[in-house]
Amino acid sequence: MVSTGTVAILASVMVYTLMIIGAFVRASGFGLACPDWPTCRGQVIPEFTTPVIAEYTHRIAAALSTLLVLTTMVLAIRRHRKSRVALFATLSFGLIIAQVLLGMLTVLSGLDPIIGTAHLALATAVFGSTVVTAVLARKITVVS
Ligand code: HEM
Repeated sequence: MVSTGTVAILASVMVYTLMIIGAFVRASGFGLACPDWPTCRGQVIPEFTTPVIAEYTHRIAAALSTLLVLTTMVLAIRRHRKSRVALFATLSFGLIIAQVLLGMLTVLSGLDPIIGTAHLALATAVFGSTVVTAVLARKITVVS
């Protein structure tokens, strides 16, 4: 049976990867390669060019990260209810949902600098929260 700690570590590694892809999208100026949301150029699977691949990969990584953070929360609530692991896992899920909505606003606002800055700030909070969750979950796994 896979431990909550293992899933939590996978979630934080995925979020870290997602942040690097996001930074690449920003640095390369590909932020509006998919100018709509949740579709990209009106399609679920768009025609791929280099800018679209970068922005689309960021979205796929966001979906995978959200799934892993959700799985961590479900396992933490089932197995470690009333612990700090469940608390931080739930916080991480709330933060990543807010971040996905901010990602949507980043695109729909045409890359407004204030929204973009908030997107970066919230990303660090999401990452921090997933790392705390992973550390706490590993502690529980090692002790028990
Ligand atoms: C589907 C949801 C998301 C969309 C549509 C989205 C969209 C974007 C876009 C368009 C950029 C480039 C902004 C620019 O060029 O100015 C970006 C950058 C970035 N995104 Fe996302 N994002 C999403 C989810 C996330 C999530 C969940 C995270 C992390 C938890 C994240 C972290 C970042 C980071 C760190 C950057 C780089 C910011 C910078 O360097 O200033 N994104 N995102």
